[in-house]
Amino acid sequence: MTKAGKILLVGIGPGSHEHMTFRARQAIAEADVVIGYSTYIKLVKDLLDGKEVIKKGMTEELDRSIEAYEHAKQGKVVAMVSSGDIGVYGMAGPTYELLLESGWTPDDPIQVEVVPGSTALSSCASLVGAPLTHDFCSISLSDLLTPWPVIARRLESAARGDFVVALYNPKSGRRTQHIVEAQNILLRHRSPDTPVAIVKSGYRSLQNIQMVRLAEMADCDIGMLTTVLIGNSSSFCRENLLITPRGYRNKYQEDGSTLDGEQSGRSLSMGLEGWKSQVRQYLQDHPDCNLPAVARHFEMPLGEILDAILAADHDSPAGCYNAQPVAADAEHLLQQCADWPRLRVIVRSAGGAIAELLVKSCDFQRRGDWLNLETEHLHLHVDLRNVAQAYRVQKNGEEWGVFLLDSHGEPVLYWLKAASVNN
Ligand SMILES: C[S@@+](CC[C@H](N)C(=O)[O-])C[C@H]1O[C@@H](n2cnc3c(N)ncnc32)[C@H](O)[C@@H]1O
Repeated sequence: MTKAGKILLVGIGPGSHEHMTFRARQAIAEADVVIGYSTYIKLVKDLLDGKEVIKKGMTEELDRSIEAYEHAKQGKVVAMVSSGDIGVYGMAGPTYELLLESGWTPDDPIQVEVVPGSTALSSCASLVGAPLTHDFCSISLSDLLTPWPVIARRLESAARGDFVVALYNPKSGRRTQHIVEAQNILLRHRSPDTPVAIVKSGYRSLQNIQMVRLAEMADCDIGMLTTVLIGNSSSFCRENLLITPRGYRNKYQEDGSTLDGEQSGRSLSMGLEGWKSQVRQYLQDHPDCNLPAVARHFEMPLGEILDAILAADHDSPAGCYNAQPVAADAEHLLQQCADWPRLRVIVRSAGGAIAELLVKSCDFQRRGDWLNLETEHLHLHVDLRNVAQAYRVQKNGEEWGVFLLDSHGEPVLYWLKAASVNN
């Protein structure tokens, strides 16, 4: 009876032997067959004596998985090697997909082990300081298998979310514009002075490091073997080191004492429990600030500000505001303002245009799920199926406005009580 084979999916780290894990070396030593892209095979060539070695080209990725499975079925121990971590943009995924599609299960006599390695983002980060000490994400700019709109959406979300961003596969001979587009998207949300570290061939013989500003990123020497690390809004570059603060300055002074209102070992005053009382304090301190402006100040959806008002109590009032949720159907919404002399209906576009209409509640017509306003000069159609929450808001004890919000807490539209056309 032939012994059961094994597939070892081995991340060999960035390229230098010192940065390869003990288990990765052991796994290669254990293997009868070593399979990999020719460059990776070269990186471990002095560990391959007496082994069957199968080198594959860049485009033969699925062949590598098929060969590994075929050899394992013959009872051999197969190590498939990949740079960095084999589970990060590596062969672990395609190999598992192939195995599962072939009817393999984890109970199969052929055992599979993923051996983790230091991925490019952590290896490259270690060469330039400490850029990843706060939330970060990695995005591959390769559109060989991923549509560009998906990549662009991820870049946009990462930029808006103020993540430190590691770009894998930033540029190749044929893919030269992707890094330019990535720079344009990031610059929509981040300062041109944001520090960027560009690490080429980290821990390999041709290692090259450039420390630049985001505005210069796309003009730098970037290739297939480069990882680009882009700081967040608090990252800084000093002594040629890219550092992202952990956030100690949000809580402690330079002498180690806590800032006013903060406690050691407790969430920040702007933490999950506390931040809504900070919103209420802000409303107390800025009685003239309108609610959309408060939402912009905290960079949170308007729905969160209204929730903070809803949770106001005697000990933590929301300035001059009170709020109650109302059912988001046409009947209930129009009931709230049936006796208001005029409504100032406000619609804001994502692009910043603001439409303000002075109407009466009876000017609204209900048609199925739609709330419509049709005047000589303007037609407004609101699909109430897009309204996830609605609030009635009082200011200084008087009825003030009705807010219709979508499932993200952003306003679909809102209307305020207006005493007369000139109000
Ligand atoms: C297909 S991905 C493989 C990633 C690999 N599995 C890992 O975890 O690092 C290839 C990309 O990894 C990055 N990369 C891999 N090794 C690198 C190195 N030594 N220095 C800089 N970047 C590297 C580059 O962005 C390259 O385009």
